[in-house]
Amino acid sequence: MKKYFVIGNPIEHSLSPELHNFWIKKNNIGAIYEKVKLEEKELKGFVNRMRKDEIHGINVTVPFKNKVIKYLDKLSLEAEKTESVNTIYKSGKNIIGHNTDVAGFELGLRHSKINVLHKSILILGAGGVVPSIIYSLLGMGCKKIYLANRTISKTENIKKKFDEIEILKWGEIPDFDIAINATSVGLKGDSLDIEFNVKDKVFYDVIYNPKVTNFLKMAKKNGNKIENGKYMFIYQANQSFSIWNNLIPKIDEEVIKILE
Ligand code: ATR
Repeated sequence: MKKYFVIGNPIEHSLSPELHNFWIKKNNIGAIYEKVKLEEKELKGFVNRMRKDEIHGINVTVPFKNKVIKYLDKLSLEAEKTESVNTIYKSGKNIIGHNTDVAGFELGLRHSKINVLHKSILILGAGGVVPSIIYSLLGMGCKKIYLANRTISKTENIKKKFDEIEILKWGEIPDFDIAINATSVGLKGDSLDIEFNVKDKVFYDVIYNPKVTNFLKMAKKNGNKIENGKYMFIYQANQSFSIWNNLIPKIDEEVIKILE
């Protein structure tokens, strides 16, 4: 029986076990996937259980996506560039850190038929997921990325990693095609203190629970296309599962329902 975990703190809210265990069962794999809340000092010991083959794969979520890196042997290009690991696997004797949020974001957009080629994108927020979104967008050939965060120092750290982005002041709205909310505002029914009086654009929220945040509600009312982060979440899990089990599990209505 292979063992997989998602680690984070807090972790109660994570729906990763539901998705992974659904695909494990569907594909008759002898495995189990569980969530576990860790303290930072427990990270090293937990990762080392992979060296002894007690654990076969780990998903990493907030706040450990960066902190876990020092306990790994090698990083994929995506993990290195974003300094963020959400998937750990073993190859030979090496423990490898990878970041499937990058592919997850791209595949999610493609699923929703949102085309970013030659488009200008405004990203709000500078939390852990933002480097993955930027790296993904750059790979897809967007024209321009604007980044704004309430605390400007955090955007400057991201600019050090991705020099091609342009930093804006919080509340400044450029000419854009797609606006992405990557802040945590909306999770609890709260609203951003920015108003958008635009139409015929795309508004994307990384949050998928609630399904329609106030950011998306306002955008829809004004006549914009909206999309939440549900498919990003499903596809990042799908990519992790593919790496561990060497098969791409199906994303069908049943899977989508798990998140709804
Ligand atoms: P993560 O846990 O994903 O790393 P985080 O670091 O908690 O995320 O970041 C949450 C994001 O939401 C940050 O960009 C945060 O802005 P600050 O860097 O200024 O804290 C943003 N955020 C949270 N509450 C906000 C609010 N009321 N208005 C605007 N931005 C907010």
